[in-house]
Amino acid sequence: MLSKALLEEFAELKERRNAVVLAHYYVQNDAQDLADFVGDSYFLARKAATIDCETLVFAGVEFMAESAKLLSPNKRVLMPEPTADCPMAHMLEKATIDAAREKYGDDLAVACYVNSTNQMKAWSDVCVTSSNAVRIVERLEEHNVLFVPDLHLGHYIQEQVPSKNIILNDGFCPTHEAIEVAEVKLLKAEHPGAVVCAHPECASWVLDEADYIGSTSGIIERCVAGSEQDYIICTVHGVLHEIEKQVAAAGDAGKKRFYFPATTPICPNMSRVTGEKVVACLRDLSGEVFVDESTAEGARRALTRMLELAA
Ligand code: 13P
Ligand code: SF4
Repeated sequence: MLSKALLEEFAELKERRNAVVLAHYYVQNDAQDLADFVGDSYFLARKAATIDCETLVFAGVEFMAESAKLLSPNKRVLMPEPTADCPMAHMLEKATIDAAREKYGDDLAVACYVNSTNQMKAWSDVCVTSSNAVRIVERLEEHNVLFVPDLHLGHYIQEQVPSKNIILNDGFCPTHEAIEVAEVKLLKAEHPGAVVCAHPECASWVLDEADYIGSTSGIIERCVAGSEQDYIICTVHGVLHEIEKQVAAAGDAGKKRFYFPATTPICPNMSRVTGEKVVACLRDLSGEVFVDESTAEGARRALTRMLELAA
């Protein structure tokens, strides 16, 4: 909980810097509470591209803030915690793309999860997020699709779009991959009738236990709109803050119960983004995001194609 003095300073700084704050659901609750918009990575990328302001504070990890800068190059983009990075964003070798392009020629599209570096995006034909990946892959003209960097999301897409040949890379999210199917089965046994909601970054054997698979926003919507009492949530614990707010707003506070795997999934990078750091970056204009011009054009092309194909 931020002090009254800090909240007053934040309000004054926001006005002075003509700033908008975007936050992902995985950052600390007090950072989410300061945000003008909290959302999943697709929602936040669209907001960054369209919102009118001078300064954008992006409470999230590096690939999210970089995407915001690419889609909105004239804004000053600040990261409250500039060292917050997503390990999966680096899990791809250029040789994997070269080998697929060599093998499939013109009948290959490289689809790149936004959880990736700008260099990876620039190597690719289109970006996707967890909420639009299936739709975008379905809409691609090419039959063969190399999906990078996430193995598990790629596997999920293959199941949803069997008409395509999806070639997989071996990247993964350490936080989602650590969710054990045994933990989920135990929760199901303890709470019969509970709805299992999972993020597609979970391994396929966890997704096999799920009733609903979707992005962070999708999971939140399912939990809020559902008529069931019990929900088992297989994604990062940070989503609970928004779920509780929305459940309370719907008049259902105390009527629903939410359970997470016992090894509570926390993203070690996102969780370093705090409310205090949001205020500090606005105060000091620290953590400014600059993109490398050598990859910016290619990365922007792949992101823009995502926005077009997902619409
Ligand atoms: P969403 O696109 O669902 O917000 O997920 C982003 C992410 O990093 C999940 O680990
Ligand atoms: Fe990356 Fe996983 Fe954290 Fe999402 S939860 S930002 S994929 S490390």
